[in-house]
Amino acid sequence: MATELKNDRYLKALARKPVDCTPVWIMRQAGRYLPEYRETRARAGSFMELCRSAELACEVTLQPLERYDLDAAILFSDILTIPDAMDLGLKFVPGQGPVFERPVKTHADIKAIKRPDMISDLGYVMNAVSTIRKALNGRVPLIGFTGSPWTLATYMVEGGTTKDFAKVKGLVYSDPKAAHLLLDILADSVIDYLNAQIEAGAQSLMVFDTWGGVLAPHDYREFSLRYMQKIVDGVKRDREDGSYIPVVLFTKGGGQWAPLLADTGADGVGIDWTADAAVLRAELGDKVAMQGNLDPSVLYAPDEVIRREVKRVLDAFGPKPGHVFNLGHGIHQYVDPAKVKVLVDAVHELSRN
Ligand code: CP3
Repeated sequence: MATELKNDRYLKALARKPVDCTPVWIMRQAGRYLPEYRETRARAGSFMELCRSAELACEVTLQPLERYDLDAAILFSDILTIPDAMDLGLKFVPGQGPVFERPVKTHADIKAIKRPDMISDLGYVMNAVSTIRKALNGRVPLIGFTGSPWTLATYMVEGGTTKDFAKVKGLVYSDPKAAHLLLDILADSVIDYLNAQIEAGAQSLMVFDTWGGVLAPHDYREFSLRYMQKIVDGVKRDREDGSYIPVVLFTKGGGQWAPLLADTGADGVGIDWTADAAVLRAELGDKVAMQGNLDPSVLYAPDEVIRREVKRVLDAFGPKPGHVFNLGHGIHQYVDPAKVKVLVDAVHELSRN
């Protein structure tokens, strides 16, 4: 476990310490835009079988690191492993995305949910973490992750992807007690899940609040932020061996709430491309590190435009320590893999001190 890190830029930036150049990783860096990912996924049979095999999950986690000079690896898995372990019957339907056979509909459904066991139900995720950590052998740090309670609740109540969030917002407004009961059990499960990932070898953690941005400000505080606070408080960031596991919170579409996320005591705050990085950096000062925020669509542009836009993002965050470069959301599946090299190399080259 105590293998020394050969590249600690990412952890240094999250600790707001100076680095030789800005660290970069890419949300969904292991995924369908890579032909070698599509090949391994076909071999696995399905996306969930890929997640359940520690060996294959490790293989795809390492694929982008072979191609690009990335400064972190992210566990290959999904945020929906927790609702799947709650026995909602998760399926990935081509063209439709994730679908739950038994979505949560009533107060009684919520009361019946059981908190998953991290060994018998989700041990496969922990096996993937320890297998990847071993294979990395200190090359770069390994990021573990989860969905936020609110984001997980949207999938569980809607039964899949949605545009209007009618069912889950219906629950919030018609039966807020039931909504809080659901969010509480999700927060407790997420805390168990992240602590188990730390035990298995995760060196940093990220909370994806993909759908927090669809809430009105007061509802965001009550139904999303409150539970992320619970997570920040419940994750054991200080390890007995003296290491520290930083936590990054990311609410997509939540730039206006970055100061609230910083106030939770998280180590880093992720922002998407609709937020003004320069304004937020000035406002947040040295309180947290920040991650982001290039528009993923820039990767469809000619190489010189990618370099120009990378420079624009680096300039917006400024020279102060504490920036991790990333896209503002996951990389699209139709991006040309060659463009990612242009991006990663430009980040390092244009930020080198
Ligand atoms: O970043 C990485 O490389 C690590 C792996 C990762 C995946 N999903 C793999 C994946 C991570 C961090 C996630 C998180 C995730 N999953 C989020 C939060 C991040 C975000 O994008 O906002 C969400 C909302 C999900 C739920 C989910 N899983 C969706 C909506 C989909 C896409 C379904 C579709 O068909 O478009 C998935 C499946 C999924 N998760 C894929 C990958 C690589 C594609 C599956 C495939 O191979 O077909």
